[in-house]
Amino acid sequence: MPPGNPFMRRDIWSLPADDPIVIAYGDAVARMQARPADDPRSWTYQAAIHGSAVASPPPLANECRHQSWYFLPWHRMYLYYFERIVRAEVEAAGGPQHWALPFWDYDRNGTRTLPPAFRGATRPDGSPNALFVANRRQGINSGSLALSPSVTTAAFALSRPDFTGVPQFGGGPSSPVGQFMGLTGRVEQTPHNDIHVQIGGLMGDPDTAALDPIFWLHHANIDRLWWVWDDATHADPTDASWTNQQFAFFDEGAAQVTLRSADVADIVNQLDYTYQRRVRFPNLRLIPEIQSMFRRRPPWPSWIRRLPVPVPPRPPGPTPPRDAPVEVVGATDRVVRLTGSPERVEVPVDARARADALGDAEPSEVVLAIENIDAERNPDVVYGIYVNLPDDPSPDDLRRHHVGNISLFGIERTRAPRGDAHSHGAMQVAVDITDLARRLRSGGTWDADAIDVEFRPVPLDVVEDAPEADALAGGAADVQHQDVPITIGRISVQMR
Ligand code: C2O
Repeated sequence: MPPGNPFMRRDIWSLPADDPIVIAYGDAVARMQARPADDPRSWTYQAAIHGSAVASPPPLANECRHQSWYFLPWHRMYLYYFERIVRAEVEAAGGPQHWALPFWDYDRNGTRTLPPAFRGATRPDGSPNALFVANRRQGINSGSLALSPSVTTAAFALSRPDFTGVPQFGGGPSSPVGQFMGLTGRVEQTPHNDIHVQIGGLMGDPDTAALDPIFWLHHANIDRLWWVWDDATHADPTDASWTNQQFAFFDEGAAQVTLRSADVADIVNQLDYTYQRRVRFPNLRLIPEIQSMFRRRPPWPSWIRRLPVPVPPRPPGPTPPRDAPVEVVGATDRVVRLTGSPERVEVPVDARARADALGDAEPSEVVLAIENIDAERNPDVVYGIYVNLPDDPSPDDLRRHHVGNISLFGIERTRAPRGDAHSHGAMQVAVDITDLARRLRSGGTWDADAIDVEFRPVPLDVVEDAPEADALAGGAADVQHQDVPITIGRISVQMR
C-alpha cells in the first residue's frame, strides 16, 4: 500500500451481509478450516495460539495474555497477524483487494444483536456459512436476544485517565508476563469479558473463543477502543517492562515473527491499518450517497478521517495528586456469594483510617475494589455493580448508580494455568466511584460511614419483535447458577 492509505477496518454494521468483504471472510475461514491442523495458518492452530485444551499443544499455543497490561498489546499483535493470514487467503482466492478485518461496534442502538452474516447455517445463495457457529447462546444466534447496553458500554473504560492499573484503562502491571494474572483493567472487563460471557458457547472459554469467527470482530472493536482512547491524547505505558515485552506469532508465510508492545502503539504508522470512524447520521443506511461513499476503496475523503471520535469528558473535580498513596479506608469481612439473585453488601468506612488518609479533606479519588473473585468455572452471568442504589430502583436509578460489571471469562485458567505457571487464584476488579460519590454528597445522600454495594445479574435484552418463547429458550431470563456460585473474598474502599 502507498503511504497514507492504510488498510481500513470497517464497521460490520455498515456492510450488508453479502458485502464482498464479509463473503470473503467466510470463504477464508472455510479455507483455513480445510488446512491441516499443524499448519500455523489453519483455523484450529490460530485459535490454539489463544488457548487450547489438547494434551500436547503445538508451538506458540496458549499464549494469550489476560488480566494484565499486556492484554491490549498481545491481542493487537494476534489480530494483526491473523488479519494478514486471512488477507493472503482472500487474495489467493481472488477476493477483494485491500481486505481488512471488520469490527463489531455493539455500543449503539440497532447493533447489539449478532450481525446477520454470522447467524444462519447457510448463506443467502444456499452455500454453507463458515461464519455460523451453533455453539453460541441460542437467542444470540437467532437474533432474538441483544447484548445489554450495560455490557456494551465503553464509557467506563474510555473515561479512565491512565493506562496502568486495575481501576484504569489497560490493566495492572504483571510480573512475570503469565497468561491470566488477575489484574483486569477496565476495557478488558467491560465491554470485553462481559461480551464473551453474553455471547456464550465457544466464546465463553478462552480455550475455544477464537474458534468462533465473531471473536475476531469483537477483538477488532476492543482494539479500536484502545485506538480511540489513545487518540484522545491518553498515554500508553513508558515502562520498559511493558514497551520491550516481546511476543511471538506466525505470519502469512507460516514463519515465526515477534513484536514488542512498543512496536504496535501506533496502528497507522507501525502496522498500516486504521478504523472507520463512527459517523453520527441518524439513518446512514438509508442514505445511498453516503453509503456509496463508504463502499468506495481508499483514499478516503479527508472529512471522513477528520470526524471526531466520541470520548466522554474527563470526570470533573480536582485531579488526584499522582504521588498521594491510595489508602484502604474500609472493607467487608465476610465472603459474598452470588448465585443469580441481587445481593446487597454494606462496606463500612473506618473513620480513623479515613482521617489518617485524608484529614478533613474530601477525597479526590474513591475506588471500590472487588477482590478475590472466584468460581469453579465461568457461570456465564454478568453482574452489574451498583453503589447506594435506592430500593425499587427505576431504570434511571439503575443507570445513575451503575459503576461497572464483573464477569468471569477466563476464571478456569486463572485458577489452573497451563504448563507450570503459578496460579493467581482469583480475579479482581476495581472501579472508580469518585463521580458518583461527589454527586451523592452534593445531593445529601452520601453516608460517610458506609457504602452500599449491590450486585445484580444483567440479563440479555429481548429484541422487540422477537417471539418471546424463542428468547426465553435462548436464555434471556436464565441467570440462576446455584451449582457454580461466584464468591467474592473482600470488597474494599480506597481513597486518596
Ligand atoms: Cu484473549 Cu477476548 O480474549
